[in-house]
Amino acid sequence: MVTVMAPATSANLGPGFDFLGLALELYNTVHFTPADEWTVTAEGYGAAQLAGRTDLLVCQAIKRVYAETGHPLSGGKVHLENRIPEVGGLGSSASAIVGGLVAANYCLGEPLSKDQLLALATTLEGHPDNVAPALFGGLVGVLPEPLGGGHTVLKIPFPKDLHVVLAVPHLRVATKEARQLLPAKVTMEEAIFNLAHTGVLVGACFSNRPELLRFAMRDKLHQDRRSVLIPGFHHVLEAAYREGAMGVALSGSGPSIIAFCPGERREAVGEGMVAAFAAHNIKARWLPVAVNNEGYRVL
Ligand code: HSE
Repeated sequence: MVTVMAPATSANLGPGFDFLGLALELYNTVHFTPADEWTVTAEGYGAAQLAGRTDLLVCQAIKRVYAETGHPLSGGKVHLENRIPEVGGLGSSASAIVGGLVAANYCLGEPLSKDQLLALATTLEGHPDNVAPALFGGLVGVLPEPLGGGHTVLKIPFPKDLHVVLAVPHLRVATKEARQLLPAKVTMEEAIFNLAHTGVLVGACFSNRPELLRFAMRDKLHQDRRSVLIPGFHHVLEAAYREGAMGVALSGSGPSIIAFCPGERREAVGEGMVAAFAAHNIKARWLPVAVNNEGYRVL
């Protein structure tokens, strides 16, 4: 049997749409043993809906590794411990994919490299910005190669002394639905805005200048368009800044929100975001999380 802890991830961080992602110390765990038949059990978030289903992303990922490497697999015993809130925006599907791929690869003696796992994970997820940090850890920028030859992965130092606070509202937003809100084309002005802001965001992290995040994390491509699915979104961002956040963004495609702040402002920022959601009749909770720097863990 193998046990894999695959981290939650927060993608985009404002302007870095489909490019940036940050791995967090919050995990879904997969226990896997090859077997004659499939059995799936689960505990934690979504357990009742997941148990007994063999079409889950985690099972697809396991089967994919066996198929890609030419190994037969008739079934497997899978147990899931889900600790990543499944409301959306915290990379729970990327965690399932990475957990399944890594578990299967480990059972086969690791025939696939991390880069090969990233390529498979991206095919299953559709975009690389959650799966890359779940594999490599930390803050990651990821570029697909134009000729399909793999990905370029850039590890970016996360500013020292910056803490992460998540606001998790009781809303459900599916990434597919949130992507459908986005136009096929954007204006030159919007494209230039996001290019410049992503550049400054990456530069601010490399030069450890968190005071730039407030400006660098602004976005014109996706957040406003998606905010129709998240009552109070702009007020939540304002509340976080008012309480001392240094940068705030929609986490992935939402509805979760990620804020960066000094350690002593964590509670005020978290409570401020929850109160702003409450003013829009949305229940929410906040949680402080550390940054994961290594990616998944095999136990
Ligand atoms: N970059 C993806 C999106 C992340 O924003 O649709 C989804 O978590």
